[in-house]
Amino acid sequence: MASYNIIEHQYDTIIVGAGGAGLRATLGMAEKGLKTACISKVFPTRSHTVAAQGGISAALGNAGEDDWRWHMYDTVKGSDWLGDQDAIEYMCREAIPAILELEQYGVPFSRTEDGKIYQRAFGGMTTNFGEGIAQRTCAAADVTGHAILHTLYQQSLKYKAEFFIEYIVLDLIMDNGECKGVLAWCLDDGTLHLFRAHATVLATGGYGRCFFSCTSAHTVTGDGNAMVLRAGLPLQDMEFIQFHPTGIYGAGCLITEGVRGEGGYLTNSEGERFMERYAPNAKDLASRDVVSRAITLEIREGRGVGEHKDHAFLHIEHLDPEIIKERLPGISETARIFAGVDVTKEPIPILPTVHYNMGGIPTNYKAEVVSLNEDGNPETVVPGLMAIGEAACVSVHGANRLGSNSLLDLVVFGRAAAIRCAELIKPRTPHSPLKKDACDAALNRFDTIRHAQGTQKTADIRLAMQQTMQSHAAVFRTGDVLQAGIAELKMVRGLFNDVQVTDSSLIWNTDLVETLELDNLLAQATVTIASAANRTESRGGHSREDYPDRDDQNWLEHTLVWLDGDDVAIDYRPVHMHTLTDEVESIPPKKRVY
Ligand code: FUM
Repeated sequence: MASYNIIEHQYDTIIVGAGGAGLRATLGMAEKGLKTACISKVFPTRSHTVAAQGGISAALGNAGEDDWRWHMYDTVKGSDWLGDQDAIEYMCREAIPAILELEQYGVPFSRTEDGKIYQRAFGGMTTNFGEGIAQRTCAAADVTGHAILHTLYQQSLKYKAEFFIEYIVLDLIMDNGECKGVLAWCLDDGTLHLFRAHATVLATGGYGRCFFSCTSAHTVTGDGNAMVLRAGLPLQDMEFIQFHPTGIYGAGCLITEGVRGEGGYLTNSEGERFMERYAPNAKDLASRDVVSRAITLEIREGRGVGEHKDHAFLHIEHLDPEIIKERLPGISETARIFAGVDVTKEPIPILPTVHYNMGGIPTNYKAEVVSLNEDGNPETVVPGLMAIGEAACVSVHGANRLGSNSLLDLVVFGRAAAIRCAELIKPRTPHSPLKKDACDAALNRFDTIRHAQGTQKTADIRLAMQQTMQSHAAVFRTGDVLQAGIAELKMVRGLFNDVQVTDSSLIWNTDLVETLELDNLLAQATVTIASAANRTESRGGHSREDYPDRDDQNWLEHTLVWLDGDDVAIDYRPVHMHTLTDEVESIPPKKRVY
């Protein structure tokens, strides 16, 4: 192995990732006087949260009566009862102060006539425990993520958080089961850095890029999840992948659910508004798993639109052009660029597209990472390690996430991580010395990949992985197809052992970055498809045609999955059916009807 000079930094807390969750945690920790660093592989305002469109949910009641308990009920039902009810209670209740704080920080929300935050309807959001349709999603036109991200970055700078931008975090530094910080590579000058911290917060987002068609940016490679697997810790509920019903056909770019919230609707080749058949009450605003399956079935049964009858139409041409201009300017531009469509005159061609990972790093509602210890306690806190946002599995989304609960998750649990760190860490507490070989495993992996001299190109292996996942872990699944996918993916992982990195330099080496990211993606693809094959029921986003029913008797539990080389190990963690306080009762499982 080449010898590397490592520059050491000491902080109270470090946050890996500068999306909505990472920045909310960074701001909160800096505001509380902790010496805080945020390490990001992209410039903060380029993080993938910038692409979030439709909004952020909170029962503010600006557009009619609302209650956080109704929000909680919808979230539990949307999760198909796999969500942890204590964490869901925390999120829905804290949504209200967390969003009013965002407003005070300066997020430029759209406004109602009387100056309140504008709120629109979103799928699965109801009033009075399923009776009416709620307008609960707070929006800044259709660029809500962009608005939040810029505000949080500016506020973090105000509180003197330090940013290490375009640094690739390579691995966690673990010592005797405790996280002591991370090792990172600076792309700009090629130097390596050891960041010490009393709390390391992973806010590295999802891993949508395991799939061929997704709404995620190319940077969404789940780096934190992969570091957790390499540290010998489990991931949770990785089989639950959300397909957003309305990705642009061919390009995969997101067309917000806010479109349907503003009155948009779907049709098939017969011009039929087919959601009326699948979800007579909620129709086009049923939850995403329901709408994605309906579109897929319409196509399968020969009622798809277009030359190949392989997609559906989303209409807003009946809406007032002034409303479209004011509330949906972003998707109008996206549809024009990526589908060649003028949304005021013609429908948008759409297809369900991978959008969100419900699974991730298991945490409690305080954002602390938990694992199964030797005594069988699955709630054991991993000292020094936290996870938030899409990287984490709190689990507030269970088997299916409701639209606009993602931005909420980022903000509420970013804030919760800051609250917890302020409780646990005394600012400027000195760091204990590290073992001499603490960074060796991380350096070894980096050096091996950097000097890989095989015959296979990174881009080819990545494409093979994405095609395998797209065709074997799709909206509908069967045991046979998943098993074939496991075998194919094993072959693809074999190709990675023969990967070739053509450039071994350390400055802005994008070949090496993409290969490190591919290694991360392959680990997640492997545990995702294994977890999907293991779960023999249908629940939320996991729809098994060979096991079409939800099976609460055997499967009302979270999957925990570990990866050791090629070996996958699976165990379970109980779903928290209990609430956090006695202000609300636990919601028992029942059949989901929309
Ligand atoms: O449809 C959307 O605007 C996406 C929102 C979300 O995933 O929460």
